[in-house]
Amino acid sequence: MKVLILGSGGREHALAWAVKRSKRVTEIVCAPGNGGIAQIARCVPVDLKDLDAMVHVADIEQPDLTIVGPELPLSLGIVDAMQRRGFRVFGPTRAAAMLENSKGFAKRFLQRHNIPTANYAVCTKADELEKAIDIFRAPIVVKADGLAAGKGVIICPSRQIALEAAHGLFSGKLLGEPQHQVILEEFLDGEEISFLCLSDGTHVAPLAPAQDHKRIGEGDTGPNTGGMGVYSTDTLLDAAMQEWIMHHIAEPTVQGMALEGTPFMGVLYIGLMMTARGPQVLEFNARFGDPETQAILLRLESDLVDALEASIDGRLDQVELRWTPGASACVVASSSGYPGSYKTGFPITGLSTAAEVPGVQIFHSGSARLGSQLMTGGGRVLAAAAAAPSLQEALARAYQAMAEIQFEGIYFRRDIGHRALKRTQ
Ligand code: AMP
Ligand code: GLY
Repeated sequence: MKVLILGSGGREHALAWAVKRSKRVTEIVCAPGNGGIAQIARCVPVDLKDLDAMVHVADIEQPDLTIVGPELPLSLGIVDAMQRRGFRVFGPTRAAAMLENSKGFAKRFLQRHNIPTANYAVCTKADELEKAIDIFRAPIVVKADGLAAGKGVIICPSRQIALEAAHGLFSGKLLGEPQHQVILEEFLDGEEISFLCLSDGTHVAPLAPAQDHKRIGEGDTGPNTGGMGVYSTDTLLDAAMQEWIMHHIAEPTVQGMALEGTPFMGVLYIGLMMTARGPQVLEFNARFGDPETQAILLRLESDLVDALEASIDGRLDQVELRWTPGASACVVASSSGYPGSYKTGFPITGLSTAAEVPGVQIFHSGSARLGSQLMTGGGRVLAAAAAAPSLQEALARAYQAMAEIQFEGIYFRRDIGHRALKRTQ
């Protein structure tokens, strides 16, 4: 089989790594890929904002299977466009990806289907918002409706700050693009879990649960990022809680989308807050998480390609996903300044020594090749991911590998897994 992967981050590097392990795969093409992915797949340039350009790559490459990594091509309708041309493609249609593309859509959907989520108000005008805000108590969460790469959520300590944030979103001052809808939301307290499932439109197969670390600073401080590290363990959710989430959240979501005529096929990423009143949906993503995928796929023993094909063919109920018991951890290294402005183009060294640490895989997020030298090429640059029988051991391996890697301004959090470690103490 020839597999095409669309995307250029650490998630796509991990997907390419997992696809390469499939006995059925003979060729992997990644568009556009990055310096690290180029070591295991052929990379071809493409603009992920340009639907026609992506379809053109598929026309030329004629893949047997295409996997769409990021949200942007999904929101543009890459799956619809490729399906129309007869390609087999893994990912939701544009209509199904609305669960991620519009937070207003997602909140109303959750309410229609009685799926637990924070109380909210969707507002289309500033005066409407000023009236609605009176039913919320501070802290108030203010959210942009559309895709915002993690920058569209503002947790506001007071009503006044919430009003300012909402005005900033409506006017375009905060995100560049003016928002047509702004969501006010009740603040939820608890631990966050990334609960990812495969869905074929009818059946749901959960992946190993993970916990992301979204803030830049240790102790979960500072601004939000795309994700600075993640771990996955058997004990993150016990069997009863996993079943509860499947029964009350994941399955009703997939059934609801099917009932509404927009069946969801692909990865349903459910961002959960584990609150005192039970798990509540914070958000949906319509794709694999980054860096969750790096940690999750390290634990996947079954063939990823078989599972993705079963999703496309509607026979996910016949697939059993097997996971390596124990844990995995992934530590992300970023450029100095990220998530604000940062410089790129610095040489990366120590990669081969790092990759020799047992159980470790290095996944690149933003790297580029200049001759034989790998250079930094993004905010998040790369991640060291490791699997081991215990979380302590997985973290030790990932940090041992990270200690070997150098580039100017390298930054990584030293406390990945801190919540889980505290629980086991
Ligand atoms: P989202 O893009 O909706 O996942 O939000 C980004 C981050 O903001 C989440 O991962 C949470 O840490 C935080 N967040 C979002 N909604 C809430 C909420 N209602 N209460 C508390 N924190 C939230
Ligand atoms: N790690 C969070 C995300 O992929 O959206």
